[in-house]
Amino acid sequence: MNFRLVCTTVFSQRVPALILFCHEKERPAVPIPFRNLLDRLPRKEFNGADKQLLLLHSGASHLLLAGLGKRGGVTPEKIRRATGAAVKRLGSIGITQAAVQLGMDQLVPTVEAAILASYQFLKFKAPSDNHTALKSLTLCLPKDADLAVAKALLARARVIAESANYARAIGNLPANLVYPEVLADHARSLAEECHLACTVLDKPALESAGFGGLLAVGSGSARDPRLIALAYNPEPRTENREPIALVGKALTFDSGGISIKPADKMDEMKFDKCGGLAVLGAMRAIATLRLPLHVIGVIAAAENMPSATSYRPGDIVTSYKGNNKRAVTIEVLNTDAEGRVVLGDALTYARERNPQAIIDLATLTGACVVALGPFAAGVLGNDEQLQQQLRAAGERTGERLWPLPLWQEYKDKIKSDVADIKNTGGRDGGASTAAAFLAKFVGDTPWAHLDIAGTAWTTEEHPYLGKGATGFGVRLLLDALQHWK
Ligand code: BES
Ligand code: MN
Ligand code: ZN
Repeated sequence: MNFRLVCTTVFSQRVPALILFCHEKERPAVPIPFRNLLDRLPRKEFNGADKQLLLLHSGASHLLLAGLGKRGGVTPEKIRRATGAAVKRLGSIGITQAAVQLGMDQLVPTVEAAILASYQFLKFKAPSDNHTALKSLTLCLPKDADLAVAKALLARARVIAESANYARAIGNLPANLVYPEVLADHARSLAEECHLACTVLDKPALESAGFGGLLAVGSGSARDPRLIALAYNPEPRTENREPIALVGKALTFDSGGISIKPADKMDEMKFDKCGGLAVLGAMRAIATLRLPLHVIGVIAAAENMPSATSYRPGDIVTSYKGNNKRAVTIEVLNTDAEGRVVLGDALTYARERNPQAIIDLATLTGACVVALGPFAAGVLGNDEQLQQQLRAAGERTGERLWPLPLWQEYKDKIKSDVADIKNTGGRDGGASTAAAFLAKFVGDTPWAHLDIAGTAWTTEEHPYLGKGATGFGVRLLLDALQHWK
């Protein structure tokens, strides 16, 4: 998508469509042909209320009015929604060029939403006649706007939104095309492009290092698991500052394994890799923007399948020991609670790098979807301040987080008779018992766990995202790192 920055009114632009944000009960100032159309329109049809969209045309030129509600109540999320709706609408009538009138504070959410809304997963679908994506958007700022500042904001927003789309593009690929080895290839090419360090542990390497959790979960599949590690450390070296570790669950497919899932919606488990992709997308943006932070990304990639070689309920698995005194042993009670088992190894690997903080992202539990729906990811952890920082980033980016408890009672629920812990604590409080399991692997390192099971993909059209992978986490993480304390 191309952007052009200008400091002039949108009505001076010669493009097929002009977008104008409107406020509730305020008459928008528009030139004559549109003025006449608007005056003839019943008030009810458009008054600038939130979520309203009105398309007018006069000859070949279109004017798209997008309501933001009351002037005092405008938020970045409302701007993203309005822009998303506008961009999708123009796409649906085959318009590829538009201009939008903006205040400086509207620039970033508009750019983000325009990029996010114009992404579609059409790799395997014949193009439909009329529909195209918007290709170019002219951003019309006030006459006195600082163009240099605007340019910097645009560049940054663009990298972040494109990184979210990068995560979505891989996230949407099905499990016959993307398996752990393919994810590792994507990580390697990304590392090359963005000058990141990249380490991939394949099955023999995982075996000799003792990654018992990742190997157990991957053992039923013809596609071997991988541990993927990326590192970003900018010049001048901040090596003395410990890294921030981003850890992601990447189940390229989760059938449930021997504890197999019902057929209904099992296809959606191709999205069980989205935590890992959020990490990959975030690393892309971090490196491209050259953030002044030391960050590592650790992705546990496996496919969970039922077969003669699968791990079974009742198995006792020894997780990766790293530099711990003892490895944590796991009694497997349900092979479908596999995410926590692979994450145990990945968290230990991250912790071995002595991080100042760990943030993990995982499509971990159906219980979290039941609790919060698609409107927020769950956040749990051992550090109140880190969780607060992430929640603030969530409010700013529209990738909202909501806290769930991690009390001792949940930790008691995963005590096992035969191993250190068991991999399920029953149905009740499922998101919290899953996090209690992860807590076993982070010790006292400040840690936050984001359960993105309800937000990583969408089966319904969203105001600025299409169906499929959402890229949830990329914008959130970048915002949190930009405000890192
Ligand atoms: N990947 C799933 C969680 C999931 C379920 C994400 C539905 C999105 C939608 C995870 O591996 C899983 O199967 N969790 C089980 C755990 C249970 C067996 C303790 C669950 O939530 O049902
Ligand atoms: Mn599962
Ligand atoms: Zn899973």
